[in-house]
Amino acid sequence: MNIAIIGGGIIGLSVGWQLAKKGLKVAIYERSKAGQGASHAAAGMLAPQAEMGFEDIEMFNLCRKSLEMYPKFVDELYSDTGIKVEVEKTGCILPGFDRDDTERLRRLFDFREKVGLDVIWLTGSEAREIEPFLSPRCTGAIWIYDDAQINNRLLLNVLKKAFVICGGKLFEDHEVENINIEGKNIKGIYVHGSFLNYDTVIVAAGSWSKQINGIPEYLQPPVRPVKGQIISLRLNETCRITKVVRAPDVYLLPKSDGRLVIGASVEEMGYDLNPTAGEIYRLLERGWQAVPAIYDLPIESIDVGLRPGSRDHMPIIGNSDVNGLYFASGHYRNGILLTPVTAFELSEWISAGIKSEILNGFGIQRFYKETV
Ligand code: FAD
Ligand code: GLY
Repeated sequence: MNIAIIGGGIIGLSVGWQLAKKGLKVAIYERSKAGQGASHAAAGMLAPQAEMGFEDIEMFNLCRKSLEMYPKFVDELYSDTGIKVEVEKTGCILPGFDRDDTERLRRLFDFREKVGLDVIWLTGSEAREIEPFLSPRCTGAIWIYDDAQINNRLLLNVLKKAFVICGGKLFEDHEVENINIEGKNIKGIYVHGSFLNYDTVIVAAGSWSKQINGIPEYLQPPVRPVKGQIISLRLNETCRITKVVRAPDVYLLPKSDGRLVIGASVEEMGYDLNPTAGEIYRLLERGWQAVPAIYDLPIESIDVGLRPGSRDHMPIIGNSDVNGLYFASGHYRNGILLTPVTAFELSEWISAGIKSEILNGFGIQRFYKETV
């Protein structure tokens, strides 16, 4: 088997690393620098319980399974590179600040309890005991003590190292222009106008996954860019927040590197990567309403990323009816969280032909089954 992965984001790097670990011949083609797309901009929340709405329980199970796999994932990375990336169990508070918020949170809380999650209801003052920097206006909150987070930027660097140490070939500044398919078989890819022979290709090109030439129309993954702007402040003695706070329309994440990440906008703006005054103003205002002590913190950076959003906002992981063509895309708002399950299960599927049941319903087939 000779495998090419298109895209060196967290998904391409982690699937590539796992395949290389199994002794397979694998190359990643990244058109700019690996790990600089959405995966760099991300906040790094590993928060299936906090993120859960009332939607598909299968998506929640996939997210929860992936969180369970994280310790094994980072342990393997440590044994390959000697670098430890911690999964930090920061816990997450979802506060409300008025009657509307509190009613909405109550319904979310009841739903979580009904499906058997470990959640705790707090009064405003109990919430402030857990996170003293929360606004005194807090009227009630959900406390999720076992949601976690990770330093996604460190993780990207370590994955890059691990992939190469395990024998993978990483080609940066190499854009894949075309996938060559003959009949129902993969023949290879075109890079800088040259044909390169491959029998297996994994499309992990994030928001750009639909744009690669040569994929038949019915198989083009319905993935679009969903713009996210995010701000990093530098924590200091005026604000020592330690818990993740998910307030209405904003989240605040204290990171172990001393940043306080405030995010994020969710915008349908095509491939636009410009930060804008309005969204940054809105995020800071909402963040300040939830945690007033952010007011004097210095601004360190503003980042913008494009989330790969599929039509139903669920990831597209698995094979297709073209032999050797696989997809690992559309991870939308949960790509960092879904990295271990994507990497472990897709690499097992490709190398040993064993498809995990947890991936049922997440294939590209759900979008084209009417036409085959
Ligand atoms: P990317 O990281 O975008 O990587 C795709 C790569 O493919 C890019 O490097 C690109 O250059 C390359 N590429 C594209 N086309 C080609 C081509 N033709 N040839 C070669 N290379 C190509 N998720 C969480 O789980 N937790 C969070 O807290 C979180 N917060 C987020 C906050 C923000 C502001 C944003 C924007 C996203 C957030 N996400 C979060 C979502 C997460 O970042 C994404 O789901 C994830 O990074 C997607 O990874 P990826 O590898 O598919 O895409
Ligand atoms: N999961 C956080 C975000 O997409 O902004």
